[in-house]
Amino acid sequence: MTPDEIRARLVALQEGDLPVHGGRTLAYVYDAGLADVDALAREAVAAFAGSNGLDPTAFPSLLAMENDLVAFARELVDGPDSMVGTVTSGGTESCLLAVLGARDARPDVADPSIVVAETVHAAFHKAGHYFGVRVVVVPVGPDHRADADAMAAAIDDTTVLVVASAPSYAHGVVDPVPAIATAAAARGVRCHVDACIGGWILPYAARLGRPVTPWTFAVDGVTSISTDLHKYAYAPKGASLLLHRDPALRRPQYFAHAGWPGYTMLNATLQSTRSGGPIAGAWATTRAIGHDGYHVLTDRALAATDEIAAGITELTGLSLVAAPDSTLVAATADDDLDVFTVCDEMAERGWFVQPQLSYDGRPPSLHVAISAATDAGAFLAALGEAVASARAQGPVPVDPGVADLLRTLDPATLGDAEFDLLLAAGGLAGDAGELGLPDRMAPVNALLDVAPPALREAVLVAFLDRLARPFASGT
Ligand SMILES: Cc1ncc(COP(=O)(O)O)c(C=O)c1O
Repeated sequence: MTPDEIRARLVALQEGDLPVHGGRTLAYVYDAGLADVDALAREAVAAFAGSNGLDPTAFPSLLAMENDLVAFARELVDGPDSMVGTVTSGGTESCLLAVLGARDARPDVADPSIVVAETVHAAFHKAGHYFGVRVVVVPVGPDHRADADAMAAAIDDTTVLVVASAPSYAHGVVDPVPAIATAAAARGVRCHVDACIGGWILPYAARLGRPVTPWTFAVDGVTSISTDLHKYAYAPKGASLLLHRDPALRRPQYFAHAGWPGYTMLNATLQSTRSGGPIAGAWATTRAIGHDGYHVLTDRALAATDEIAAGITELTGLSLVAAPDSTLVAATADDDLDVFTVCDEMAERGWFVQPQLSYDGRPPSLHVAISAATDAGAFLAALGEAVASARAQGPVPVDPGVADLLRTLDPATLGDAEFDLLLAAGGLAGDAGELGLPDRMAPVNALLDVAPPALREAVLVAFLDRLARPFASGT
């Protein structure tokens, strides 16, 4: 292909994606609304895209930028002089490493476990799955925050890490970090604060005079914190920070291997080769915006959040799950309103709003992560229309026979053919077996919503697996 053909094809491919600018994509992307900063960050990504963070002696520029990023974050997390940090590829990698380090710091524990609230991010379940660590899940209180007493009671001799969220993704509320960290410290256990989504908001919220539950290293007992650069630091994708109170806590995170004929592999993260692009992009973004800039952006995002939360409260048919502690808002719908249809109707109006399926007695909800670039008034106008339209359409019917089947199916007993049938029944495959997303997701979500979590996982894995078979015709 010629350069022009390639450019044209890239543009055409991207037309099918959600927009990353404009503040209307309210999950996955975070928009500062600063075109010049964005352009600068992309220049930095491009300039360092081929550099390799694997070896800081070969690419000292990346080490310098990594240390600068850690220094910038230190002011946000009340880091002591001893604080150290690592740039990772994203929130999940930071959380994975926190668990891995905690496990490896305790070789004396044969059956290691972590204590988490049920609202903890799925990344910690992934860590448990990857690293053979049991995940002890503790129910949250009626305010959707972790129940510190129950978490304390769940700590036992196998606990290597206790996790608190600042805030939780699904409900946007900050856990009682001081009580949780105190309980962990009393048992000599590490305490990680997952501030992947709040770490670049809450410090500025506090400076703006808003009430913020203490969650930083100022809280005794907090041993590590994850905070994502590619969320509310508004950096290009692929950058997060895992911060430790001191180097000894970070030490087990390192992997070194000299027992082969090649170079001594020496890694601080799950990756070995590490693109310099995201590090440079995050460095350029934080330098360009600076603390004063983040102060302003946080003010904007929080003002938009207040307006959206108030607007939802006034809107008949929707209710807030919780008053937001940061920039995340979740809302449930009355019985005569289908929340998944509301999401579809928002999409029709150019807004991406994330559906959250019902879970463990909680109703389904819609979820938004509000950016500095989000226009709250325009959002609420669209939401009002979307709710009216969804109400007029009525509930999405699920055949009771199908619902019963979904409730009882054991995914472990299903083979490829059954999954093909389920995908077709769910509207995720056409008659000829071709895969794709239907225009409207509400019917798919309504079906998934009646399925137990294990079946949801299995069906969606089957879907993803079939999407990524470039050489198969049909399924
Ligand atoms: C609280 C929290 N932890 C971890 C993650 C995982 O981050 P990532 O998607 O960057 O891997 C997220 C993502 O939204 C999050 O909100």
